[in-house]
Amino acid sequence: MMKKTIAAALAALLVLALAACENGGKNTEGSSSPAGTNATAGTSAPAETSSQPAGTPVPSADASSQPAESGSASAPSADHSTVLVAFFSATGTTKGVAEKIAAITGGDLYEIVPAEPYSDADLNWNDRGSRSTKEQNDKSVRPAIGSAAIGLAGYETVYLGFPIWWGEEPRIMDTFVEAHAFDGITVIPFCTSASSGIGRSGPNMEALAGSGKWLDGKRFGGNVSEADLRAWIESLK
Ligand SMILES: Cc1cc2nc3c(=O)[nH]c(=O)nc-3n(C[C@H](O)[C@H](O)[C@H](O)COP(=O)(O)O)c2cc1C
Repeated sequence: MMKKTIAAALAALLVLALAACENGGKNTEGSSSPAGTNATAGTSAPAETSSQPAGTPVPSADASSQPAESGSASAPSADHSTVLVAFFSATGTTKGVAEKIAAITGGDLYEIVPAEPYSDADLNWNDRGSRSTKEQNDKSVRPAIGSAAIGLAGYETVYLGFPIWWGEEPRIMDTFVEAHAFDGITVIPFCTSASSGIGRSGPNMEALAGSGKWLDGKRFGGNVSEADLRAWIESLK
């Protein structure tokens, strides 16, 4: 009788212990749920930054005060391409063309990212007071570059891409060309636009750069085919 009572008590204890374990498991799972949500949110962060070029963005003050070709640390590695496709793109059109050119040439891609991104309001060409309009109206403005500085050592050809703003290159392109030495480099400007040609963008930048062999630039629509780009690139040789 006594043995039966003890056995029944032990069985009851065992049932209680198992129940406690099960609850503990559920609690653990429950507490990881918000973390899981956070982790999902966290994965969107790299996506946001994926449009940024490789490298740690340098503070705008440093970028704007960067001396031409400063430091060998930013020089490309020995096995880098001799072709660089450097571009600025406010809304992605020029970026698409730049990526195609890089794919055709096997060139490295470098995005000129503004330290202060352009908002939709900044890009409103109907607003005389918008940032882009004011910048284009003042040839001395040099918007700071926020992407990691790049050295041009080792590059023989640089394709330089940008959107047309008020008939010419955005001022941030002037920031870029003034910050680099293009000696021994063939520079090939290209642009996208709604309809305008490349105008005097190339000669403007050539004068500001003061070095390099600058070829005539070319304007493309955003939907230019790879075949057309390939034909253009071949025609430059
Ligand atoms: C401020 C501003 C000014 C522009 N001025 C012109 C222009 O003068 N002529 C033109 O054909 N397109 C003009 N555009 C249209 C852009 O050149 C065109 O949409 C370009 O493909 C955008 O390239 P992105 O997406 O690489 O920034 C202008 C766009 C902006 C935002």
